Amino acid sequence: MTDDPGLLRKDARRIAGMFDAIAPRYDTLNHLLSAGFDRRWRTRAIDALGLTGRETVVDLCTGTGDLALSAIRDPAARARRVVGIDFAGAMLRLGAEKQQRHPAGASLRLMRGDASRIPLADASADAVTIGFGIRNVEDPQEACREIHRILRPGGQLAILEFGMPSTAALRGLYRWYFTRLLPRVGRLVSRHAEAYAYLPASVSAFLSPTALSDLLAASGFEDVRAIPLTCGVVYLHLATRRGDQGAAIIV
Ligand SMILES: C[S@@+](CC[C@H](N)C(=O)[O-])C[C@H]1O[C@@H](n2cnc3c(N)ncnc32)[C@H](O)[C@@H]1O
Repeated sequence: MTDDPGLLRKDARRIAGMFDAIAPRYDTLNHLLSAGFDRRWRTRAIDALGLTGRETVVDLCTGTGDLALSAIRDPAARARRVVGIDFAGAMLRLGAEKQQRHPAGASLRLMRGDASRIPLADASADAVTIGFGIRNVEDPQEACREIHRILRPGGQLAILEFGMPSTAALRGLYRWYFTRLLPRVGRLVSRHAEAYAYLPASVSAFLSPTALSDLLAASGFEDVRAIPLTCGVVYLHLATRRGDQGAAIIV
């Protein structure tokens, strides 16, 4: 997929620097390049959690906070509070601006931190979400261990990540779009040389939906499911931390 091995480097400094650099155009490009589908994918992930207003949700790799804000958007089905964590300061700053404009923004706390060393106590979350972030984490296995640690027994995990359409005809067209057109539009709009070449390259190099399910099962999750959205362009991965149901220990 890529002749440049450096393109796939995922050390924290590089990934945070890349997202900091594209932060001002990140949301616009998300909506543009997904033709607005990104909002639906996030809504599906939050809906799957069946929130009742009592939960503490931790949104890892929260970026500019769109998935975190989705969890407090719907007054009928929102979390009691959401903690959004990311290591890219510029992404978080934009998230904080959106938080201030949001009527339920006080329910969101944004924190700087690494998904592989989550700065939260054991069993402190009722649910964890990650939108298009796990692929960027240098050691996804370590992140899964950390998610398992901070989730209470019975707590839920929802991960959104890119996939490939399962239908051959659609796959060909989508591959052309994803590997040819998207990087050009992304480079033009973001004015960043690599970020939108990194996107398809990192998707192609990342675990398949089945392999991610296997990793979740091996990390102590049960009821692991990978649900294709929009013909498999994106997968919603759902899993439950094994153990008895119960309230989160801290809030
Ligand atoms: C593609 S963006 C996704 C942002 C947001 N979740 C969304 O749905 O739009 C990926 C984000 O993950 C963050 N990220 C990547 N690896 C991380 C890590 N190990 N710890 C914390 N944040 C990380 C990046 O800084 C970036 O903001």
